[in-house]
Amino acid sequence: NKKIIIAIDGYSSTGKSTVARQLAKKLGYIYVDTGAMYRAVTLYAMKQGYIGSDHFYKEALENSLPLIHIKFEVNPKTGLAEVVLNDKNVEKEIRTLGVSRLVSPVAAVSKVRKKLVEQQQLMGKDKGIVMDGRDIGTVVFPDAELKLFMTATAKDRAERRYKELVERGDKVTYEDVLKNVVNRDHIDSTRKDSPLRKAEGAIQIDNSNLTLDEQFQQILDLAQNTI
Ligand code: C5P
Repeated sequence: NKKIIIAIDGYSSTGKSTVARQLAKKLGYIYVDTGAMYRAVTLYAMKQGYIGSDHFYKEALENSLPLIHIKFEVNPKTGLAEVVLNDKNVEKEIRTLGVSRLVSPVAAVSKVRKKLVEQQQLMGKDKGIVMDGRDIGTVVFPDAELKLFMTATAKDRAERRYKELVERGDKVTYEDVLKNVVNRDHIDSTRKDSPLRKAEGAIQIDNSNLTLDEQFQQILDLAQNTI
């Protein structure tokens, strides 16, 4: 069996990471959540005071990029990969609405993207990888054997993300989550560097009306037909 690269892109909260994780597990592939890497850089910038709701010292962040080290470690309890920023596990911290609000401006910075894309390309050099994000099929692995582009209505996506946040105990309103989803999509698809769009050859999957199982089966079939 040949090993392939599976690139999954799409709007925020389309369930990319859920299906990517399931797929990697089933195929025995590595799973990489690139959004987590942009979130980790954002958390670093917040902690240093480089970015907040009313300011963004972009150059300060650019200059400190060599000090930012991101890796993944598997949590032995869950078997899931978690993000480590400068030797500290930040998996929980990067998922807050506070980080979600500031991540898109950080991800629009070319020097940030260059650093993370290089690291992502290294992680996939031996193939056998499922990677999800916004620019995987267009920029990180334009030659990926299988490319997917996931969409769903903003309402469906916000509902999903709202439930997730509430289950974790975050005090958020549905309106705030919806606003964030729409705002991030706007910034992500209109930025100059690597805007979110469907890659050439990508298969579009609208999962508004699919159950998780149906969606997984559909994507697993595509993967197995490609391998
Ligand atoms: O996937 P997730 O929603 O966690 O991604 C958070 C943000 O990181 C996105 O809204 C986008 O701004 C940025 N991102 C990106 N390129 C990727 C993955 C994520 O710009 N490959």
